Order: sequence, then structure tokens, then C-alpha cells
Amino acid sequence: MSEALKTTPAEAVSAKVLAITSGKGGVGKTFVAANLAAALTRRGQRVLVLDADLGLANLDVVLNLHPKVTLHDVFTGKATVDEAIVKAPGGFSVLLAGSGMVEYSRLTPEVRDEFVRVLRSLLPRFDVVLLDTGAGISDVVLFAVSLAGEVLLVATPEPTSLTDAYAAIKVLSMQQKRRQVRMIINQTVRPGDGRAITGQLQQVLDRFVSTDTGRPVRLIHLGDIPADPSVRDAVMRRQLLSINNPNSAAALAIAQLANKIDETVLIKS
Ligand SMILES: Nc1ncnc2c1ncn2[C@@H]1O[C@H](COP(=O)(O)OP(=O)(O)OP(=O)(O)O)[C@@H](O)[C@H]1O
Ligand SMILES: [Mg+2]
Repeated sequence: MSEALKTTPAEAVSAKVLAITSGKGGVGKTFVAANLAAALTRRGQRVLVLDADLGLANLDVVLNLHPKVTLHDVFTGKATVDEAIVKAPGGFSVLLAGSGMVEYSRLTPEVRDEFVRVLRSLLPRFDVVLLDTGAGISDVVLFAVSLAGEVLLVATPEPTSLTDAYAAIKVLSMQQKRRQVRMIINQTVRPGDGRAITGQLQQVLDRFVSTDTGRPVRLIHLGDIPADPSVRDAVMRRQLLSINNPNSAAALAIAQLANKIDETVLIKS
């Protein structure tokens, strides 16, 4: 087992670091991270979104940002963290990895240490840090998730997304000893879809996955975001949904998610 896979929640940098992750790619993590950040900012939180999808970052694309300085420059000592932080249109701060950082798709101890150092240095200035991670269970993804106090797992109702979500939760439970994972079900069709899906996943986990203490990982249904054509439209225009279409069903769902996170997750950090 690699060093990265041995990381556990005991190494989580802070309770106010939330990882947004998924089993399958393309389920909406970056969209959720950016728009949740905007909604939490509207609620008065000081929010930073950190592009933790080091090899294949695309938060800059979604937010239409063109940073001159990125995390790569910070890691290589060419710039300070402050120089790399940019303000996004929604009023929150963003730290971008820079696209195509192929060297980061493999985790070295130096990269890991730098990542932790940068994250720690940022904590005093923010109420919440969202890590927009990559999909799946690669070393880079698991490492980024291990730094977070809470995991927000995005899945869609598609069977492939759910089997991949199951695989990811299993790894988080067994290797990182996660006791709970918060579920965001994106692109739902009917009200109640997400709660039902979370319940089904929980049943499978209860049957087949137990942690070393014998307690199965607990899934907490955080909320649903409906499939909504305005999401694609906003992404195509590279705008936040709250700016492009604030009254759309998906924008309202994200505002509700932010309320819930504020009231149930951040209250403890
Ligand atoms: N609620 C939604 N309704 C309709 N379309 C959506 C919704 N959420 C996401 N999408 C579509 O899915 C696309 C992919 O989303 P996004 O890039 O956020 O996924 P991701 O999980 O970050 O992908 P990756 O794994 O590559 O990082 C968006 O560009 C958008 O077109
Ligand atoms: Mg993404």
C-alpha cells in the first residue's frame, strides 16, 4: 500500500475543510463546489475553494478565471500563497492548481507536505475551505480527501455513478476509517430520489462493508440538486448559476444545501 493510502482522518487538517469528491467523473463536483461557495459566501461565510484536482484542474474554466499565478508556482517557491489567491465572481476566494500539471498526478512526499503546509497557512483566514477533488480512488484524490474533516460525496442517480460511489465510500471507510460521508445527489429527476438512493447505498454498505470496529459507515443525505438545463447553460457561459439564473431549480437547491451545511456541518467546526 502506498503512503498516501495510509492517511486517515486523524490527519485531517481541520474540521472546516470539506472535500467535494465522487466515485465517477463528470457528476458535477466542480459545478457544486463553485456554486456552493457562492451560496455560502452569501450567507456571510469567508470561503476558499481549492482546486485539489491537481492533474486535471478545471475550476478556472467553470469560473472563467485566468490566473497568472497558481498553486504550482507556490509549490515550486516562485510565488507566495497570497499571490496565488484570486477572487471569484461570487465574492469567494479561489486557489487554482493550473491545468495540465502532469507531475502532480503522481504524489511525491514533497507535494504532500507542500499541500498540507499551504492548506494550514490558509485556515486562519477562512471559515470554510472546499476542496474540489478529482473523481475515483487514486492516490491524489484519497490524499486530498484525507485532509478534510468532512466528505461531501457527489453522485448522480445513474447506476454507474452509484456503483462507483459505493466503491469510493468503501475505500474511504476501510482505508481512511471514515465514520460518515455526506451525500449530495445531483441531477435528480423526482423529489425524494436522493434520499431513496442514499438509503439503498446504506443498505448495501451495511451488508458488505464494516469498519474495523464493526460499525458500518453512516451516509447522511445532505440534499439533492435536480437535473436542470440552466446548469449546462451557465457552465457554457462560464458563469455561476446564481448570477446566470438565480431562480432556477438547481440554484435554489444549492442555496438550500448551503443553509444545511451552514447549520449542520460548519456549526461544529
Ligand atoms: N444539476 C445538473 N443539471 C444538469 N446538468 C448538470 C448538473 N450538474 C452538472 N451538470 C453537467 O455536468 C457537467 C460536468 O460537471 P462538472 O465539471 O462539475 O463535473 P465534475 O464532477 O467536476 O467532473 P470531473 O470529474 O471531470 O472533475 C457540467 O458541465 C454540466 O453540464
Ligand atoms: Mg471537476
